[in-house]
Amino acid sequence: MNTRSLFRVCNKLIGPSIACTPCRHVGTYKTVKRPDPSTLKMPAPGTAPKLMEIIKEKIRLKGPLSVAEYMHIVITNPTEGYYMKKETIGESGDFITSPEISQLFGEIVGIWFYAETQKMGMGPGRPLQIVELGPGKGTLMSDVLRVLHRLGYKPKDLSIHLVEISDTMQTVQAHQLCASHKGCDVDSPHYCEGETTSGIKVYWYYDLKKVPCNFSWYIAHEFFDVLPIHKFEKTEEGWRELLIDIDENEKLYYRISAKETNNVNNLIRPPLDGGDRTELEAFHKHKVVNPLETPGASDLTADVDFSQLRVAASMTPGDENYALVVGPVTQRDFLRRTQAEARLKVLIDHAKSDEQKETLQAAYEMLIDPEKMGERFKFMAFYPSAMAAILEKYPPIGFSNLEKETK
Ligand SMILES: C[S@@+](CC[C@H](N)C(=O)[O-])C[C@H]1O[C@@H](n2cnc3c(N)ncnc32)[C@H](O)[C@@H]1O
Repeated sequence: MNTRSLFRVCNKLIGPSIACTPCRHVGTYKTVKRPDPSTLKMPAPGTAPKLMEIIKEKIRLKGPLSVAEYMHIVITNPTEGYYMKKETIGESGDFITSPEISQLFGEIVGIWFYAETQKMGMGPGRPLQIVELGPGKGTLMSDVLRVLHRLGYKPKDLSIHLVEISDTMQTVQAHQLCASHKGCDVDSPHYCEGETTSGIKVYWYYDLKKVPCNFSWYIAHEFFDVLPIHKFEKTEEGWRELLIDIDENEKLYYRISAKETNNVNNLIRPPLDGGDRTELEAFHKHKVVNPLETPGASDLTADVDFSQLRVAASMTPGDENYALVVGPVTQRDFLRRTQAEARLKVLIDHAKSDEQKETLQAAYEMLIDPEKMGERFKFMAFYPSAMAAILEKYPPIGFSNLEKETK
């Protein structure tokens, strides 16, 4: 089945019966409330003196920190880390992500997974684990589950596995997704478990390696950019790591390591050696603030080099266990190729008021507008190498030209 007809069928199957929480109130139409895109904020700097002291103390004791060590503390320090102490995403937080803007986003992701799984003969009726890395407020998962329910998945066949480092965010996710939830013993692989109103089991992990190895979909949205990165520069003596140190005015600053650090040897090697570039990985801010000035007060993200990610995932380390990678393509291209506009039309046709129609339309524009989120955000997909022949026959939806897919 080609892309257009597949998404037409899915759209029909899901129809107007959109519920506001996963697998509940089916049969009644309700659009999911999202904020007015014109009121959305980007992160603003603040103050977090305590974390600054923690970092300086660490440098005094141990010497300069790598950028990765610095990011790790800033993002995950148990009391002052950026994601640990407050709800950072959404209308009341510092920034907004695509699933928080429109229900369309999570619905299209759900339909995409469904369509790709059909190719493997692993559709409804087969057990399925959905694993999400860094699930934020749980909104994306909630939208995906609602769609899967409409597409015929039964709660007994599904389990949800969330990898989340922040207890604050975990609580938000539990309230979004579960009717009940509880903490677990330290010897359990997961630290918390819960159940949705329809009976789907939900588990939380600090470590991805603890997630059971079963047939799974993996979702990682706005996740790679919060992972700690190392930063390197090419000098006349070769690659050197950028470190964070304290200057004579007690301020943090970057300096280039005098000698080759172990990270240079371990991380920069062909084909991941950056080619002709003189800098590898850099900080990127939604709003420009000095990442060394107020640690923990504003979001700290890496500008993910998707081409290097692609190389890393496609490497064949002596066995067949490598990934087939497609993308990156822009969010705009992906959503347009996966018929998001047709889905938007269904939602608008069933909206209760003109105001609701306008909000749905404005949110969609925000997702695809090249000046807003359309070009800046990218989609990539990773498949097991065993799927090569299937993908040759049925190319991944959304990653190549519509003309090619609809042949
Ligand atoms: C930028 S938010 C993305 C939220 C969500 N995926 C979305 O699109 O709305 C990053 C999420 O990853 C979590 N996180 C950050 N570092 C993490 C780590 N090392 N392991 C697991 N989760 C992490 C944060 O607490 C947060 O839930």
